[in-house]
Amino acid sequence: MIGTPPLSDLFADDPGRAERYVVEAGDLRIDYSKQPLNDDVLADLLERARDAGVESRRDAMFAGEHINVTEDRAVLHTALRAPRDAVVEADGENVVPDVHEVLDAMSAFADRVRADDRITDVVNIGIGGSDLGPAMAAQALEAFGHPRITCHFVSNVDGADIHRTLQRVEPASTLFIVASKTFGTIETLTNARTARSWLVEALGDDAVADHFVAVSTNAERVAEFGIDTANMFGFWDWVGGRYSVDSAIGLSLMILIGPDGFRAFLDGFHTIDEHFRTAPLEQNAPVLLGMIGIHHSDDLGRDTKAVLPYAQELARFPAYLQQLDMESNGKQVTLDGDLVAGDTGPIVWGEPGTNGQHAFYQLLHQGTRIVPVDFIGFATPNHPYRNHHDLLMSNLFAQAEALAFGRRNPDEPHRNFPGDRPSTLILADRLTPSVLGQLIALYEHIVFVQGTVWGINSFDQWGVELGKELANRITPELTGDPDPTQHDTSTNNAIAWYRARRST
Ligand code: F6P
Repeated sequence: MIGTPPLSDLFADDPGRAERYVVEAGDLRIDYSKQPLNDDVLADLLERARDAGVESRRDAMFAGEHINVTEDRAVLHTALRAPRDAVVEADGENVVPDVHEVLDAMSAFADRVRADDRITDVVNIGIGGSDLGPAMAAQALEAFGHPRITCHFVSNVDGADIHRTLQRVEPASTLFIVASKTFGTIETLTNARTARSWLVEALGDDAVADHFVAVSTNAERVAEFGIDTANMFGFWDWVGGRYSVDSAIGLSLMILIGPDGFRAFLDGFHTIDEHFRTAPLEQNAPVLLGMIGIHHSDDLGRDTKAVLPYAQELARFPAYLQQLDMESNGKQVTLDGDLVAGDTGPIVWGEPGTNGQHAFYQLLHQGTRIVPVDFIGFATPNHPYRNHHDLLMSNLFAQAEALAFGRRNPDEPHRNFPGDRPSTLILADRLTPSVLGQLIALYEHIVFVQGTVWGINSFDQWGVELGKELANRITPELTGDPDPTQHDTSTNNAIAWYRARRST
């Protein structure tokens, strides 16, 4: 690996840098000139991407090979946004007709709900990938939403979540979408049962058919739960939960922004899929940004990454990316089962600007840790207050400038800004459904590139299983007969403390 001089020197010595280190992908303009790169480092990084087989693994993913080896599954979220006439095969079958059949059914249903004045509220009950995507996107695209419809998202098994939502809606005007790939997730089933009881208490058993639909891959469990599978929208095991916002899991979003808006959202993904699939590595945004992340992690020892959208509507985007990135690449073994040699996925976090500026940016500017940043901004807002937007964007540009170039103040060390702090600037004209799809696909493929270089399986999530299993064991111990003394002493004591105090 080759190190680089400070950013101020890189810019001073290379006047063409700001033009050269920009890549366009769809409607996104991505400026990575404030990253610790020169042509040699970049060439080295792209060489490493080639050596790691990024291109062949990418092609294998698009071709429906079972690259998710621990679950022996294809990884085909890209088929969810393929146009109607595309051919994408999984296990020898073209899946595109099935994808569009479900999209058509969703569209007809969404149109019906949008036209039905009795429905004012849609409550999506799901968690993880069955919540974060639609929740994030519904907030991001509220400006494109149906004026009568409000979407709510209930995910946490903490009863406070469903309680708060049920207090805000009326049974007769609420549609519940129970969204769960497996339909076996305890949080979702618990929340769904509570919602169903609440509805039945007000409107009777017969109301369930009109007020509950399901989104799942598991028809049997949906039926067992008591939702007619005629009111179910399906998807497939080759769609990972955190890659599923563009499947039927996006039903709440489709109801909010309409089938045309949802199609534009999918087309945005597809634009970046095509870019990722066809652009040469030197011009390939997910490859470039993925390899810049590899440089930070593997070469420079940086273990976190901040994503800072200068758009209040993207407030949940960092949380969405946390699942996308950390559940995908938070892995310690390679595809062969060996321990990885170095670190893998970064800790992803962030908040919208300018709020973050008055909270954690102090550390970004003068702390001892260097945090690589992705800034996201738009030329035109989805609100009428242009003066606010000019202020917002001036802050965005100022922060990237201040981080990169700092300000020397040798006489007053506390006012010294060292600079040389890296950022990427991702800009687009406006946050539309298409642009949001493009942004999500960009990050999906960045995660893919990095997972490939680290030689890990980005598409399983075994790490979440142990906690689930232990919780299942502890649940009866909190209230009933099982002897709650079979754990370590700390856990035993905590359970005993809770048993002694829990209110009935
Ligand atoms: O947390 C683990 C996980 O399996 C996620 O990957 C998934 O998105 C989430 O749980 C929800 O799963 P399901 O959609 O099956 O309810």
